[in-house]
Amino acid sequence: MGHAQVSGRHQNGGRPVKIRLANEKPAYILSNAQDVQGLFRASKELTFEQFSVRVLEKVKKFPREDGARMEADTSGSATVPLHPGVPESSRIWRAIHANYDSHLTGSGPVSVLTNRFVRLFQEELDQVAPPSGKGGWTTGCINSLLEDKMFRASTRTLVGDAIFDLSPSFTADFWEYDQNFMYFLYGLPRFLFPSAWQARERVFNAVKAYIAQAWENLDPRQHTTTPGQKDGGPDFDDHFGSQLVRTREAMYANYGLSLDGRAASEMGLIWSINSNAIPMVSWMLVEILSDPHLLSRVQQEIWNCTTPTTTEDYGDDVRPDVPATLDVSRVLTLPLLNSVYAECLRMRASVQAIRELRTEIRLGGYTLKPGNLVMAPSCLAHYDEATWGLEGHPASVFYADRFLRPVKGGDGYQFYNPATTGQYFPYGGGAAICPGRFYAKAEMLVAVALFLFTLEVRPVGFVDGRGNPSTRGPSMGTETRGTMRLDRDLKVLFRRRERVTA
Ligand code: HEM
Repeated sequence: MGHAQVSGRHQNGGRPVKIRLANEKPAYILSNAQDVQGLFRASKELTFEQFSVRVLEKVKKFPREDGARMEADTSGSATVPLHPGVPESSRIWRAIHANYDSHLTGSGPVSVLTNRFVRLFQEELDQVAPPSGKGGWTTGCINSLLEDKMFRASTRTLVGDAIFDLSPSFTADFWEYDQNFMYFLYGLPRFLFPSAWQARERVFNAVKAYIAQAWENLDPRQHTTTPGQKDGGPDFDDHFGSQLVRTREAMYANYGLSLDGRAASEMGLIWSINSNAIPMVSWMLVEILSDPHLLSRVQQEIWNCTTPTTTEDYGDDVRPDVPATLDVSRVLTLPLLNSVYAECLRMRASVQAIRELRTEIRLGGYTLKPGNLVMAPSCLAHYDEATWGLEGHPASVFYADRFLRPVKGGDGYQFYNPATTGQYFPYGGGAAICPGRFYAKAEMLVAVALFLFTLEVRPVGFVDGRGNPSTRGPSMGTETRGTMRLDRDLKVLFRRRERVTA
């Protein structure tokens, strides 16, 4: 996410360039991989907290009083504070990150969230078309379908079902708000985009109502005041949803954040979990479905992860020809699917790692002055021909096998990423690196696999925003706020595959 639009190659030998941004502090732009690596390592000299508060306030309606409270903590997010003498009880940034460590980033929480997502996404997908044999083909568009079904599954995984009951238009409102994200960030006045303001208002009010209702219904025994700790409650409850949100809410309340402040923050979390992963799954499916040979290879990999029916579980219904379940843990290890994922992230995750200089730092042989911003746009590194170009497969063209190499001394291929952290950073880096990256990866891989496992899909052609046929597929814009949005959709015919359910 970021303010600037960056395009083209660096023309200055990779030295940091200083630019002035609208309504922001001056910024140095880094384009050299070693400098980017230096940026991610320099967590003492660079902070992200102050900039995060500005984004919260501009885009997510975070109240100023709460912003001031967060800004007052300048001790950073790391275990060791940036300066001594700060009581642990005042370290809100540390508490936020400790909470991510306990409830989002580790392998335990990732598998709890992934398993729940798989169940809910399967439930949502089973509703998009009648069971096999009970109807013909249904028409739909990949991105629109995911913006509805995957959004519901991943939001229900995070915050439960109540929000959709409280606000039946929540999905549509969310995407209208998301589409206008950059205008909020630029600080455009309300009268220039009133509909998006109203959509944001509705999303915000729904999140606020959900939190208020969850607090009213919460079992006091599940309430924790110790940030980052398990709260003795279940992984998931019917009021808050995931333990991640329940413990985060308790932590924020403990720091005295207002209900509006907490609603803004949780609206931000709902945005984080959906707004990058869903368009990325669309890119993956569009690439796979646009190439019949790739589709059949990916499908073969996925089919190798299905479990046949057994007489023990299915009695007389046993059908050796029809799969029963998809083995999610095997899906996560599929080399070609992982390569498609990594290639889509390389090409379509256009992120801007932004930090603020606390103290002077030397990068690329230059002294960067405190008070300024430093930005590392991924698009320069991710399209660098020297790192990514392969014979017949330039960096600018999607190549499903780019992240594969032959297994040494064996058969077949394995996943391989040749890049350093400064050359490939779809999830940012350093202390502020995306805390959802492990869950995001699992969610995206299983979403693609479940989609192709559940539905038989036949591409029809590309369509524009009004559903009219388009002569081209989605193109890449110049925004640098995360996953690029698709400006074209892929129209498909689909029907549910035959599947035996116990
Ligand atoms: C394609 C998927 C995703 C991409 C490309 C992505 C990318 C990013 C990036 C670039 C950042 C900023 C990192 C930095 O400044 O160095 C970020 C932050 C964040 N991401 Fe993700 N992300 C994705 C999915 C997710 C998911 C599924 C979650 C789940 C909750 C998530 C949660 C977050 C949160 C909470 C932050 C803010 C961290 C903070 O303020 O310290 N992300 N993400």
